[in-house]
Amino acid sequence: MVVRSVLLLGDPRLRERSLPVPPDAIGSPELNQLIDDLRDTMAAREGAGLAAPQIGVLWRVVIFGITHNRRYPEAPPIPETILINPEWTPLDEEQESGWEGCLSVPGRRAQIPRARRLHYQALTPDGQRIQRTVEGFHARVVQHEGDHLNGVLFPDRLPPADSVAPEEDAETGVSG
Ligand code: NI
Repeated sequence: MVVRSVLLLGDPRLRERSLPVPPDAIGSPELNQLIDDLRDTMAAREGAGLAAPQIGVLWRVVIFGITHNRRYPEAPPIPETILINPEWTPLDEEQESGWEGCLSVPGRRAQIPRARRLHYQALTPDGQRIQRTVEGFHARVVQHEGDHLNGVLFPDRLPPADSVAPEEDAETGVSG
């Protein structure tokens, strides 16, 4: 069991765009070790997900999954999922705000708007293609982890402060 240290906000490696895993690396000892390290590190830190760049490996690999998570007690279960070279597409325009945290941004949470429903596809560690259509927290996790592969962290997704509109300008019926 190898628990790797998690890079923190401010580390320039978190801002890099990670590279696709080359086809001949699927099933290699190097990739399998990376996946084991991601799994062990996520478990040790009680994360809901972890992306390879967070442990300093700039490959497009993420892991996520929730059974019961003390950091996200309200979250529905998600089976452990490892995605290699994931691609994701929102199904429609609908956005939903929800709380997010990140092992690279310790001690902080924010309400982040994300696409509510999306389709994703990727390769699995054994080289099979996985495709899912998901919504809610599962969709949120995919977008959060996918962002890591593009050098984006959740604070980058905060709505701009001047989107806080004067009450008289806001549409009625949207409070709550
Ligand atoms: Ni994160």
